[in-house]
Amino acid sequence: MLVYLDNSATTRPYDEVISEMSHVMSSSYGNPSSLHRMGFDAEKIVKAARLKVSDALWAHSGDVYFTGGGTEGDNIAILGGARALKRKGRKIITSKIEHPAVLETFKALEQEGFQTVYLDVDDHGVINLDQFKSELDEQTVLVSLMHVNNELGAIQPVEEVGKLIRNMGKVYFHIDAVQSFGKLDMRSAVSAADLVTVSGHKIHGPKGIGALYIKHGTVIKSPVTGGGQEKNIRPGTENVPGIAGFGIAAELAYKDFDNKIAHMRKVRTHLLEGIKAEIEDIRINSFEDERSAASVLNISFPGVRGEVLLHMLEQKEIYVSTGSACSSNKKGQSHVLKAIGLKDEEIEGAIRFSFSQFNTVEEMDYVLEELKKAVKSIRKVTRR
Ligand SMILES: Cc1ncc(COP(=O)(O)O)c(C=O)c1O
Repeated sequence: MLVYLDNSATTRPYDEVISEMSHVMSSSYGNPSSLHRMGFDAEKIVKAARLKVSDALWAHSGDVYFTGGGTEGDNIAILGGARALKRKGRKIITSKIEHPAVLETFKALEQEGFQTVYLDVDDHGVINLDQFKSELDEQTVLVSLMHVNNELGAIQPVEEVGKLIRNMGKVYFHIDAVQSFGKLDMRSAVSAADLVTVSGHKIHGPKGIGALYIKHGTVIKSPVTGGGQEKNIRPGTENVPGIAGFGIAAELAYKDFDNKIAHMRKVRTHLLEGIKAEIEDIRINSFEDERSAASVLNISFPGVRGEVLLHMLEQKEIYVSTGSACSSNKKGQSHVLKAIGLKDEEIEGAIRFSFSQFNTVEEMDYVLEELKKAVKSIRKVTRR
């Protein structure tokens, strides 16, 4: 039995996405900027997909711009937003547990003279609103926070942050919603934000495609320059097959949404309860309840090296992750797990299980059996 539990790293594309992309590539390969019928057909495909993505975001389609994925969306939003407001102030705020696409972009802005603030998080990965309030001041021009953390699943209070920012005048609020899109209803988060980044491959869509929502009236200075596509926010010939596939994925992700999420939560809880009952000496790093998205469960097995456990499970065709697949930390230690205060042994023994709508309770019974055996055999050696 193959059990794929690395859905926060990437997901299996929907069959409908694959067939739509294949159809677009073979039959509608025109350039949307061309003036002839083939160009017009390609433009129509982009337009239809934009509507689907904007519906999923509860946004106007004119406020949604296609990008080359989550990393590029984060870069355009943060560099573009901060640089547009730099005459007003130079302070930008984020958290310690962001994705490298945000953290490295903040570092790049430090080189340009911006003052950066990295908010602390509690032992499950949530920021402290009082600390945020005390940092938000007249000099602040941009705040960037993730909606759902990719390693823990923790949901940030983005609506409250949005309210506080709204009272401050001109401050842009960017939400990295790469891990929440398709997992949470986006309405309240999008209405709290000026800029929202999402990505295709986390929602059973293609890789290398994403979108940036830019609230009407939000002026940014995109770092990408070129031929004017996407209203100069992300110029470059449109990735028409990717866009078409992303549109289908966004539409399918929100079809029968409540049932899908309830199913994911049931699968997650089944695994969690099984691990709690059958494996001793563990630390559950994610929230067990709805303060975490249904998609992620992070657990430490002290006395076990996560990497060793990962490869033992791989032998059984169970695919998990040790934290983040795209960690920027050279030592390989997760900056997220460090920020929530884990000890070295707990960081090294952490496994991230990340779920999709396609996982089943039966799969979790198999995972639990194999996990139990693997943890026991590793600990036999390390705890002699
Ligand atoms: C929270 C978060 N932001 C941004 C990204 C980057 O997205 P992409 O892989 O589409 O560049 C990821 C991907 O892992 C992510 O989890």
